[in-house]
Amino acid sequence: MTTLNQTFAEWTEQRLAQTEFALDQTLPKADQLPAVLHQGMRYAVLDGGKRIRPLLSYAACEFVGGDASVAAVAGSAVEMIHAYSLVHDDMPCMDNDVLRRGKPTVHVAFGEANAMLVGDSLQPLAFETLAELAERLPSSHVVQLVRLLAQASGSLGMAGGQAIDLSMVGKGVVNSSGGIAISQAELEQMHLLKTGALLRCAVMMGAWCQTNEPSAHQINALSIYSAAMGLAFQVVDDILDVSADTTTLGKTAGKDEQANKPTYVSLLGLDAAKQFAQQLHQQAVAAIAQTDEEKNNGLSSRRLREIADLIVSRRS
Ligand code: IPE
Ligand code: IPE
Ligand code: MG
Ligand code: MG
Ligand code: MG
Repeated sequence: MTTLNQTFAEWTEQRLAQTEFALDQTLPKADQLPAVLHQGMRYAVLDGGKRIRPLLSYAACEFVGGDASVAAVAGSAVEMIHAYSLVHDDMPCMDNDVLRRGKPTVHVAFGEANAMLVGDSLQPLAFETLAELAERLPSSHVVQLVRLLAQASGSLGMAGGQAIDLSMVGKGVVNSSGGIAISQAELEQMHLLKTGALLRCAVMMGAWCQTNEPSAHQINALSIYSAAMGLAFQVVDDILDVSADTTTLGKTAGKDEQANKPTYVSLLGLDAAKQFAQQLHQQAVAAIAQTDEEKNNGLSSRRLREIADLIVSRRS
């Protein structure tokens, strides 16, 4: 079914509602034992968050002509990994944040041990959710989805990026030669892993939400798009950390400077960081536009382009 007669706002509203429904159904009920753990999981995942990753899965799925109801499942799985990463990211042993999505963080509301277990429980639930797709997709596609999500979450993906991030605390300062302690290449590597990996995965998973194989052109275009937008997303996160306020962000502003972490703003300055985000946006959009016109049988890259616009123009 084509959705191209919908405005982006209508498309987004429908996809967000589908995502909330899928997440709500997947998470154990709040009164199921152990209730405190299930309440914490629901608190971490539901009622908040921009859901950019699920939206990317839907958009990539449309780009390949896939099944949106399958993308709802894949997007929910990535969102559960993302939510778990935020719960752990906010803990005192990591960024020590008390506010997330406009609410007290999970460890503040439920205690540290429960916050750890909430993350530990969301992670396998994400993979169990993907396994349920075996009834609707070829097994090889389900294996591919599991592989993509596992690689993006682990030590060569998000968790690895978080380890690098923590090793950078205190290294955001200007050193004696006038620059920050790390190079742009090192910073890029950290951002590509800690944030880029899951965003990229959300896109690439969308390509497998169909019974056919995605074409080499589609995979290539989506790879370029997702790598650029994954990095752009964290560059904008760095920008918002210095330029937005806590109420708008729903999380404490100014945390990177407080922890003296290197960011694109501390490395390049605010204006150059903004320009860099625009440059990445152009790269991403060019990759999908070309495939759209020449190779993609009339399937549209429009939603991917609209989400790319949203990622660089967002205010929270
Ligand atoms: C915040 O992610 C953490 C990063 C990886 C930069 P989001 O900005 O997507 O957070 P939510 O899901 O909307 O709360
Ligand atoms: C978070 O990066 C990345 C992950 C949670 C994997 P940040 O630490 O910059 O995210 P915020 O700013 O707390 O949302
Ligand atoms: Mg962090
Ligand atoms: Mg943080
Ligand atoms: Mg941040």
